[in-house]
Parts: sequence; C-alpha cells; structure tokens
Amino acid sequence: QHYWVVIPAAGVGTRMQADRPKQYLPLRGRTLIEHTLDCFLGQPELLGLVVCLSADDDWWPQLACALDTRISRAAGGRERADSVLSGLKRLSELGADEQDWVLVHDAARPNLAETDLHKLVRELADDPVGGLLAVPVRDTLKLAGPDGRVQSTPDRALYWQAYTPQMFRLGALRKALAAALAAGVAITDESSAMEWAGHSPRLIEGRADNIKITRPEDLHWLG
Ligand code: C5P
Repeated sequence: QHYWVVIPAAGVGTRMQADRPKQYLPLRGRTLIEHTLDCFLGQPELLGLVVCLSADDDWWPQLACALDTRISRAAGGRERADSVLSGLKRLSELGADEQDWVLVHDAARPNLAETDLHKLVRELADDPVGGLLAVPVRDTLKLAGPDGRVQSTPDRALYWQAYTPQMFRLGALRKALAAALAAGVAITDESSAMEWAGHSPRLIEGRADNIKITRPEDLHWLG
C-alpha cells in the first residue's frame, strides 16, 4: 500500500522554552526532525513527502535532508490545520490523486516505531475512512472546573490519546480541513476535522513511546 506523507513543522513551540523551533533540538546527535523523517524515508511504499515550514525558518536549509529530492516544501500556516492544508495542496501539485492515502505526522514526534507505521498502514489499507495511531489513557482523568477543582471523573476505559501518523485519503481530508477552518472550528488533529465532517476514523493502538516533544523534560524520555 503506497502513501504520501505530510510533516507539519511550522509550529513556534513556545512551551519548549528553547532558542529554536523544537523540531531542531538535538537528540542522539541529530535534530528531532531528522529522526522523524528517517522512519518514512526508509519505506519503499513512500510516494513523496512534504514538510510544512514557516517562512522565517533558517534551520531547515542547514540540514542534509533539505537536498533530498523525495522531500518537498510547503508554506506553514497560522494553525496546524492551515499548515497541513498547505501540505495537501502541495501534494496535488506533485501529482497525487484525490484517492491516494496521506499520512500526517508531527515533526516533533521523533520516536515512531517502524512496526507501528506498518501496523497503521496494514490495518487501514481497505478502510473506507482511515484512522490514527492512538494509546488508551493510563491515568485516571479529571474534568476540572474554572476554579481548579474536580467536577467529575469520566470512565477512563473510553478514552484514548490521539497520536500520529493519522491516515486519510487526500481529497476527503482536504475537504474536511477546509470546511472546518472556514467554520472556525477548533482543530488540533486531522481526525477532528474528519469527525466534524461526519466521518468516524478508526483507532489503531500504537506504542506509548511515540511521544510528541512538547515540554523540555520530554526529551529526557528519549535520551
Ligand atoms: O503545537 P503542537 O505541538 O500541537 O504541534 C504539532 C505539530 O504541528 C508540530 O510538529 C508543529 O511544528 C506543527 N505545527 C505547524 N503549524 C502550526 C502549528 C503547529 O506545522 N501553525
């Protein structure tokens, strides 16, 4: 099953308190984004890959992979959904078909296991909608009120953490993202756009260590 990949990498990463966008932080002698890209670039099923970068990104051209002909650039946008939409438009310019599968994966998620990638693609290959890697929550969840006090404890057996890659067909995902953005709906992943458009994406259980680097201490887990 062949697929395209879009890597949104245009975030500011203020929670990281670093001197550079978080995907350029070092991990085991390379930048996070190089680890992220590596997992996909080794796949024979990869049709092409688009990285969404902000206009003032001076870091990307310094990487060796900036010269890799399998990687194209797209302009990042204000929100993550804008960046992904821009990446999808780039895919169409590259000749991608509306029915082609697209995997969207966070630049700041450098520890994706090849086994998880293969599992996602294998399980969703014949799916009418698509889906995402996800992990059942392990802690008990609390719903907080504005005063910082617990209002209730939902049944944690029903809750999953949404990870990436998220895998959908190009045309359906572009329409869902564009419609959600136009309506001003808060969209923090591709699945939520698809849900808003009336689809029900499938959850594929993945490894818990496919974490997104968000805060400084997150890097220690992967050290
Ligand atoms: O902010 P968050 O950690 O949810 O970002 C997830 C991914 O989306 C990151 O890889 C980030 O670079 C990307 N992003 C983007 N464009 C934005 C905001 C976030 O490409 N406007």
